[in-house]
Amino acid sequence: MATPVIKTDRMILRKMKRTDLPYLMEIFSDPEAMRFYRSTKTNEQAEDWISWTLGNYRTYGVGLWIAEEKASGRFLGQCGITPQDTGGVTEMEIGYLFARREWGKGYATEAALACKDYGFTSLNYRKLVSIINVHNLASIRVAEKVGMKKEKTFHRAGNMMNIYAIING
Ligand SMILES: CC(C)(COP(=O)(O)OP(=O)(O)OC[C@H]1O[C@@H](n2cnc3c(N)ncnc32)[C@H](O)[C@@H]1OP(=O)(O)O)[C@@H](O)C(=O)NCCC(=O)NCCS
Repeated sequence: MATPVIKTDRMILRKMKRTDLPYLMEIFSDPEAMRFYRSTKTNEQAEDWISWTLGNYRTYGVGLWIAEEKASGRFLGQCGITPQDTGGVTEMEIGYLFARREWGKGYATEAALACKDYGFTSLNYRKLVSIINVHNLASIRVAEKVGMKKEKTFHRAGNMMNIYAIING
């Protein structure tokens, strides 16, 4: 098993590697999974995503991690903590993208809750957010189950985005 950054009941979250590209492409090439992103991603754009993630590990000590099923090592998706611009202010965001074959099994909620605990308990963050397209109801539900509340709505690249937030304590 790869070295976990975080363990949950059913999953490990481990660092992303360049060799994870084919796994990530299952999500990035799926128009349904990418519905609330600018578009699907090419291999080259996915390489950039991995570079961004590796840079986040170096600069912030966090980033998106690969979620694997503990029992089988099966790739499930990505979840982690990344810096995001929320209209002039940088906030730390819990992000999650899972392979469509795994949706509806509670994996995103389980991984996001573990990231919240890690951010608040191990890293002593004051606040965590999730920035979510107002139409992305599954993602909004995950944020609510993590205990986040809608803080504000803002425009980003022509879309209406909600900021969901939770304060430590
Ligand atoms: C958002 C996403 C990560 C959720 O993953 P998941 O593992 O299916 O999430 P969970 O099973 O933990 O929870 C999903 C919740 O959303 C609910 N849900 C799913 N589709 C829904 C819809 N269309 N309307 C309302 N609720 C919905 C589920 O019923 C569940 O809530 P419940 O436990 O109260 O029944 C997944 O859909 C995904 O990867 N989407 C593509 C990437 C993406 O948009 N990421 C978020 C960017 S902000």
